[in-house]
Amino acid sequence: MTFPQGHPIHEKLKSGQPIRLLFVCLGNICRSPLAEGVFLHLAEAEGVADAFEVDSAGTGDWHVGSPPDDRSIRVARAKGIRLPSIARQVARFDFEDFDLVLGMDHANHRDLLRLAPRQQQGKVRLLREWDPDAAGDLEVPDPYYGGIDGFENVLAICQRSCSALLAQFREMGG
Ligand code: 4NP
Repeated sequence: MTFPQGHPIHEKLKSGQPIRLLFVCLGNICRSPLAEGVFLHLAEAEGVADAFEVDSAGTGDWHVGSPPDDRSIRVARAKGIRLPSIARQVARFDFEDFDLVLGMDHANHRDLLRLAPRQQQGKVRLLREWDPDAAGDLEVPDPYYGGIDGFENVLAICQRSCSALLAQFREMGG
């Protein structure tokens, strides 16, 4: 997955300023905190954490102020990944502040496009557009009502997708 010519990310990369990424799911307690933590972990491992500012948010407001779900914390901790997120709801100004707003599923994507100012809509994408194993399924499945295996699956998707996204920034000169 690439960024079209004229996408603001190209200018941002040239500027040398940190790239700002916002990961978004429904509740901001299961999937997007994992995506945020995994991206941070990978960037730190590559020694490029200073080139990024990452955050996560939810389209819903039910869990505002909460740390991630215990199951997300558990699967992340098993891989040495910490999850700094405290849940918050996505806001219209986020589309100004962030260079990319990455939804976890089609409902998130649709809600984000509804909220985004028209000139910022190109910043709204799906995380799994970068998953080399997505095989046409661009959703990070909601693990909330299932078992721990669903969280392990989300973690694996986030690791593949964030790794590919980071590699793309590297290739683009970020
Ligand atoms: P998330 O998972 O969107 O990945 O944080 C969910 C968390 C909470 C709810 C649904 C999904 N909920 O219905 O409260």
